[in-house]
Amino acid sequence: MSKPVVAVVMGSDSDWPVMQHAVEQLEKFEVPYLARVVSAHRTPDLLAEFAKSARDEGLACIIAGAGGAAHLPGMLAANTTLPVLGVPVPSRHLNGEDSLLSIVQMPKGVPVATFAIGQAGAINAALFAVSMLANDNADYQAKLQQFREDQQRAVFDMVLPPAQ
Ligand code: RP5
Repeated sequence: MSKPVVAVVMGSDSDWPVMQHAVEQLEKFEVPYLARVVSAHRTPDLLAEFAKSARDEGLACIIAGAGGAAHLPGMLAANTTLPVLGVPVPSRHLNGEDSLLSIVQMPKGVPVATFAIGQAGAINAALFAVSMLANDNADYQAKLQQFREDQQRAVFDMVLPPAQ
C-alpha cells in the first residue's frame, strides 16, 4: 500500500469493533491509511510524538475514536494542526453519551470535528476524510459520486414487507 494519508487511531483495542468500520470505508475508496492504538491516558508521550510528527509523515487528517472520558481526539488536536475527526465509541456504562460530550465539547481554539456515536460515526468520519481528500483529487470525487448514486439506488429498491 502507498504511504498512508489518513490515520485511524483509537484509545484501546476494545474500540476496534467500532473503528474497523472507518477502515473498511477507507479500503473501499482505496485510501492509503494506517490504523493503530494510541491512548491519551496510558501512552501520553506516544500520543504527543504521533500527533507532532503526523503532518511531516504525510498524513492529511486523523480519525480518532475513543470511549468514556475520551480525551484522545482533543489531545491529538492540541498537538497538531491537521484536521482531527472524533468518533465517540459506545462506553460500557453510559452508552457513549459520555464519549460524545467529551469529544464535542472542546474549548474554543482547538477544534475536533465530532461524529455520531458508534458505527455510523466511524463510517461518516471515513467518508468525510474522503470528501476532504476529494477537494483536489478527481478520482476520489468520482468514487464519492458513485457511492452516493449506489446508496440512492438501494433506497429506491427498498421493498417493505406486508404489515403484520
Ligand atoms: C478509552 O477507554 C478507550 O478509547 C476505550 O474506549 C475505553 C476503555 O478502554 P479499555 O479499558 O477497554 O482498554 O481510553
